[in-house]
Amino acid sequence: MPRPHTTVVLAMSADGKIADAGRSPARFGSAIDKQHLEARIAEADGVLFGAGTLRAYGTTLSVRQPDLLDQRQQRGQPLQPIQIVCSQSVNLDPDWPFFRQPVPRWLLTASEAAGLWQEQPGFERVISVPATETGLDWAIALSLLQAAGIARLAVTGGGQLVAALLAIDAIDEFWLTLCPLLLGGSTAPTPVEGSGFMAAVAPRLELLSVRAIAQEVFLHYQVQR
Ligand SMILES: NC(=O)c1ccc[n+]([C@@H]2O[C@H](COP(=O)([O-])OP(=O)(O)OC[C@H]3O[C@@H](n4cnc5c(N)ncnc54)[C@H](OP(=O)(O)O)[C@@H]3O)[C@@H](O)[C@H]2O)c1
Repeated sequence: MPRPHTTVVLAMSADGKIADAGRSPARFGSAIDKQHLEARIAEADGVLFGAGTLRAYGTTLSVRQPDLLDQRQQRGQPLQPIQIVCSQSVNLDPDWPFFRQPVPRWLLTASEAAGLWQEQPGFERVISVPATETGLDWAIALSLLQAAGIARLAVTGGGQLVAALLAIDAIDEFWLTLCPLLLGGSTAPTPVEGSGFMAAVAPRLELLSVRAIAQEVFLHYQVQR
């Protein structure tokens, strides 16, 4: 099935954790990392994240830098990419600041839960997707996003969503920022949660670029096929 070109963008500690064991919002990246995240978001038609990420932050990152907004306009893109939340429970609080941000919002959820948010404001579009044993049917979800005009998708977390997309080989690139701290702990989330892959069949990456800026390392990988 056709799907968007999909790029994961995450910051992690030097020991590979994307948040602490309390799952608090990951604010350990520098201002340079935040600019990098905004630039990757600005390249996308849609930004996809799990409800857990939204629960942690309550907001999403919009495009604000004037040069990035200009570039979007020159490419004929709307000023803001669509912010797409995926949730099976649809247990989302309409009082979160996210719902007051001046960005387009879509919800991806399983068919039976969709009605709850179709009846109240918050999302411009609620997309119903069949559920599988492990969550949404991502092959269908991604083909619906592609059909709705999302050719480039940025995935900004968390680890559960990334694992579900990797499981169906639906990720093309990773940007990982290695940040100078150690979070440790067996329950702190990592870029890929779920049940994991045995080494023999684990997805393999090709390093496209690596840049060290101040104390952080920006790693850009392509998923090998
Ligand atoms: N360092 C970073 O760059 C970064 C970036 C983002 C997040 N984080 C951290 O990551 C943590 C949140 O991660 P998380 O593991 O909770 O992951 P998550 O993937 O953001 O959220 C999990 C929730 O998203 C929905 N979801 C995810 N995959 C799904 C699927 N396959 N099908 C249906 N629904 C799905 C479900 O929502 P429902 O429960 O509503 O059904 C699920 O409970 C937070 O601590 C946050 O700070 C860090």
